[in-house]
Amino acid sequence: MTGVLVRGGRIVDETGERAGDVRVRDGWVAEVGVALAADGERELDAGGCLVSPGLVDLHAHLREPGHEEAETIETASRAAALGGFTALVAMPNTEPPLDDAAVVRSVLDRGAQALCDVTVAGCLTKGRRGSELGPLGELHGLGVRIFTDDGACVGDGRVMRRALEYASALPGAVVAQHAEDPALAEGGHMHEGEWSSRLGIPGRPGEAESVIVARDLDLVRRTRTRYHVLHLSTAAAVDLVRRAKAEGLPVTAEATPHHFTLTDAECASFDPAFKVHPPLRSQSDVDSIAAGIADGTIDAIATDHAPHAPETKEQPFEDAPPGMLGLETAAAVAITSLVETQAATFEQVAGALSWRPAAIAGLSDHGGPIKAGRPANLCVIDPAAAWQVDIDRLASRSRNTPWLGRKLAGRVRHTIRRGEAVVVDAEAQR
Ligand code: DOR
Repeated sequence: MTGVLVRGGRIVDETGERAGDVRVRDGWVAEVGVALAADGERELDAGGCLVSPGLVDLHAHLREPGHEEAETIETASRAAALGGFTALVAMPNTEPPLDDAAVVRSVLDRGAQALCDVTVAGCLTKGRRGSELGPLGELHGLGVRIFTDDGACVGDGRVMRRALEYASALPGAVVAQHAEDPALAEGGHMHEGEWSSRLGIPGRPGEAESVIVARDLDLVRRTRTRYHVLHLSTAAAVDLVRRAKAEGLPVTAEATPHHFTLTDAECASFDPAFKVHPPLRSQSDVDSIAAGIADGTIDAIATDHAPHAPETKEQPFEDAPPGMLGLETAAAVAITSLVETQAATFEQVAGALSWRPAAIAGLSDHGGPIKAGRPANLCVIDPAAAWQVDIDRLASRSRNTPWLGRKLAGRVRHTIRRGEAVVVDAEAQR
């Protein structure tokens, strides 16, 4: 059998929506048309489904090297493929961190065997310590385009200014910030507000995010470097990004499914699955994030997939590490929270999950459009399929999902990565 024929779906890409079949041969889209005749290809039914360019995650923690008990490049890539992703950006807070060419090379080499394309973000500073710049030029030479200390904020304005100045000379480079002022967030375990007072859990105030975004945007006004805000979580920071874009600054932003769906009220369960940095915020913040996606202020929906092994995560709330799984549920949560509620259209959600993040990361093989001659990276989603997370069937090595027991709408049915059907009928093929 040669190739794949995706039959009977509605194709959605940056050029709009239309009915059609997609013929895939040797890793490429060979033909797009109506009622194409099969020519020995494996036929994949897409009846009632949306056929989008493969999803692209700007923000996934793969844990390799250093924490393979929580996740590996292979298990994360299987989770990604099941979630419709054909490419992801691996965050650099591994052990050792990705601040060194040899470590970056080894992750890229292992990523070459994975079920989706794996690219990496390099550390902005050595050891993610926030004091001395990492070898940005050398990592850029290996193809790294996104630089960040994610998991840690670059709190020192002087270091951030140097990073922006240096990165502005590297073609395609993006400086990405985990915007939580270290001093303001210090000692906090959830959003600072009514719920943290009631529960007696020390809080991380929303201003920890907005003061860093405001400061960084002032620096970007001077350096004109591409700047990306990771996991936006507050209404105030969405507003800052909206105004910076109106001014013409080269800024982009992402938000996670949990930040446009869940509030700090979830922490009342004391379930560490709901502990994350930045923390789950108030309902008005959640609403502002959703509005920011709908009006395009927020470019990308990113997972911040952060696996933690049960022996570390299942501890009292204040002792547990922050982070939650996201790759296998992102598309469904986005459809459930944004499309079903009519806060956004499927096309807007697909743009935020596919072609807009692909453009930010410079991944020109991903994000479509779906037409002959393009690399065959596709995701087929049944928007009406209702399902729930089955904890025993997660492909991730960890179990720290906040979505247990929730009804989700929208299921990834097939994922095609460079012409290979890696997921068929919601089952990984390898
Ligand atoms: O909650 C989080 N967990 N936020 C981050 O920025 C890092 C991540 C992790 O690596 O576990």
